[in-house]
Amino acid sequence: MSEKILVAVAWPYANGRVHLGHIAGAYLPPDIFARYQRLRGRDVLMVSGSDTHGTPITIRAEEEGITPREVVDRYHPENIEAFRQLGLTFDLFTETDTENHWAVTQDMFLRLLENQYIYRDTMLALYCPYCDRWLPDRYVEGTCPHCGAPGARGDQCDACQRTIDATQLIAPRCTLCGNTPQVRETEHFFLDLGRLNKPLLDWVRTDKEHWRPNVLNFTLNVLESGELRGRPITRDIKWGIPVPVEGYEDKRIYVWFDAVIGYLAATKEWAKITGQPEAWREWWQNPEARSYYFIGKDNIPFHTMIWPGMLIGYGGLNLPYDVPANEYLNVEGRKLSKSRRWFIEALDFLTRYDPDPLRYMLTINAPERTDVNFTWEEFLRRNNDELVATWGNLANRMLTFAYKNFDKRVPEPGELDAADQALLAQVSDAFQQVGDLLEECKFKAAISEVMAVAHAANRYLDEKAPWFQIQEDRARAATTVYVILRAIDSLKILFTPFLPFTCQRLHEYLGYEGSIIGRLYVDTLAEEHKTHVALRYDADDLVGEWAPSQLPAGQVLRKPKPLFKKLDESIVEEEIARMQERAV
Ligand code: MF3
Ligand code: ZN
Repeated sequence: MSEKILVAVAWPYANGRVHLGHIAGAYLPPDIFARYQRLRGRDVLMVSGSDTHGTPITIRAEEEGITPREVVDRYHPENIEAFRQLGLTFDLFTETDTENHWAVTQDMFLRLLENQYIYRDTMLALYCPYCDRWLPDRYVEGTCPHCGAPGARGDQCDACQRTIDATQLIAPRCTLCGNTPQVRETEHFFLDLGRLNKPLLDWVRTDKEHWRPNVLNFTLNVLESGELRGRPITRDIKWGIPVPVEGYEDKRIYVWFDAVIGYLAATKEWAKITGQPEAWREWWQNPEARSYYFIGKDNIPFHTMIWPGMLIGYGGLNLPYDVPANEYLNVEGRKLSKSRRWFIEALDFLTRYDPDPLRYMLTINAPERTDVNFTWEEFLRRNNDELVATWGNLANRMLTFAYKNFDKRVPEPGELDAADQALLAQVSDAFQQVGDLLEECKFKAAISEVMAVAHAANRYLDEKAPWFQIQEDRARAATTVYVILRAIDSLKILFTPFLPFTCQRLHEYLGYEGSIIGRLYVDTLAEEHKTHVALRYDADDLVGEWAPSQLPAGQVLRKPKPLFKKLDESIVEEEIARMQERAV
């Protein structure tokens, strides 16, 4: 049986459109990884969905004067459309306001309660007497008790990434009216993270050499300080999943408790809708299965401590294998910010540019170890100098050359000389090297390696110059063209995880049938009392394989077209002006 790989992707809040920061940080890397693993023949399941609960949604609803559900109904389909256009191959992208997700969440809650990892206690929480309401996390701001940064939210500090209990905030303010809230007593359920500190530490200390240093160090720091304490996982709010215990009708489960359960719930939903309700177990209970959680750095504590803690408490489910969290993407030297209106929405970007150049740019300049800066200047340069000039022209020139001079076919080669063999050997070796980097989630290094092979192919071509060879020795030219087409065919596979749309076209120009990309489609899923929209991926007709080209001589080519468009320099100023006009 082939290896099971769960690709778990952060659940975006359905309170707005995803922007390039989200795409670079959490959404594109898992797709590259999933595509690569599928080409390796592994049994990949990539799941996520919209995070529909919590204060991000209710705050947005209050701002717009609509219900939280209406907020979700607006942004969930828009984000699905952005992901579809970007070619993100979610086996299932669902949402958390489904009967399935509610049931899986309540089951986990009750099991943790039974296993005594959840306990009941009274706590102090912030109440705004002016607004006459409880103030959950994001409704209060103040100074971070850990690092002293101002403007920390009631749930987390953006400066130090630590999670916060709202009552610990120094100088708290109600974000609705600006007044100082009161501390009042209320009864809630708590996740016993204190009891989980030791088991979590033992787990994190075992075989985690493959974790990114920032993720590992951050987690070890928290766990070694022994500072984990019980955390309330219910709230005095109306929007959210009901607490499945009598007497708690006025309270709801805290959004972070239910959101992380989404990974398990979505796997179960996928299993049900594909008619194999028990299949989820293969990714969660089979000890050989590996799970990778793709997230932005602000989500680290939830994925390296809280969710693993919940899984330990529940028992019998696999813990994360890796959590390759990313740093942030800035744009034109400024931090992305919804409130300052400084962002580039994916959907908007895709009205003017193709998906592959964006995927290229966000990978070659990925925020893997440090924050990175997206500039339009760099986007233009990388598109024109790298995608068009290095890779696109190579493929287009040689396909056109073969099409015109060799009767629309892959020519029959003669004997290969040392240079021919050297190029093909380098291309073959790249499958190992690039594959190793992709296994380790080093996407930036991986795509650079593929690009280096494209450069080598260009150098080979400049030396051979088949356009001269053909005037003197047609057989010699045929060999060169054969070798270069084979290199291009291999590069097609090496580039597929990153640039799926153009590689699919290239696949067709080379005369192949079938699809490397598989099929992505938007589906409406009906449950007993609810329906929801979902993005689904079907890999049934996938023909690609992570292996060097076996391009047969004589294969009939299709008429090629350029893979990439050269962009005009004027876009740089236009795009910056467009952003500046909107910014506040
Ligand atoms: N909605 C959260 C955010 O955007 C991410 C949740 S990841 C989850 O920060 F898996 F926990 F849902
Ligand atoms: Zn108030």
